[in-house]
Amino acid sequence: MPTDSKAEDLKIEIDELAKNAPSARQFMSEIVELLHERLLKFNWVGFYMLETLPGQPPILVLGPFQGAMTPHTRIPLHQGICGAAASTGKTVVVDDVNKDNRYLACSLETKSEIVVPIFVGGKVVGELDIDSHFLAAFAPEDRELVEYCANLVGQHLATAPYGK
Ligand code: SME
Repeated sequence: MPTDSKAEDLKIEIDELAKNAPSARQFMSEIVELLHERLLKFNWVGFYMLETLPGQPPILVLGPFQGAMTPHTRIPLHQGICGAAASTGKTVVVDDVNKDNRYLACSLETKSEIVVPIFVGGKVVGELDIDSHFLAAFAPEDRELVEYCANLVGQHLATAPYGK
């Protein structure tokens, strides 16, 4: 039965995907498809996963995504809105990317962005990044939905690591 809120309806569908996904990576691919297809202001939706290799600085690596190809397939933690969210462990919402000097441009059409960290065992392991062609596209309800997705992915990754 649909509720009167699109975000609430999507959460119900995402819960179903979480229950049935055979792997975290598959679940992540399904989330990006669903959000990109159903929310018209979510114009680029993708995951970055934190790669930590011995002797090398940690780096965010592009994972499943929907939208135009981005030049930013690997982002160091001191760069971009993505780096800011991963290094602070806090959601970052930017209403106008052209006024934020941390912003790494992916598309000239992007006007606003949200990045939500994903945690496993209290540590950041990745993030969910969404760009919009609209200024200030991310209302509290959108933020809550994206945080909901990031939290479910964290739960999935805790039991079945990425790539397994
Ligand atoms: N805008 C991001 C880079 C990733 S693209 O948006 C896909 C940033 O500033 O970190």
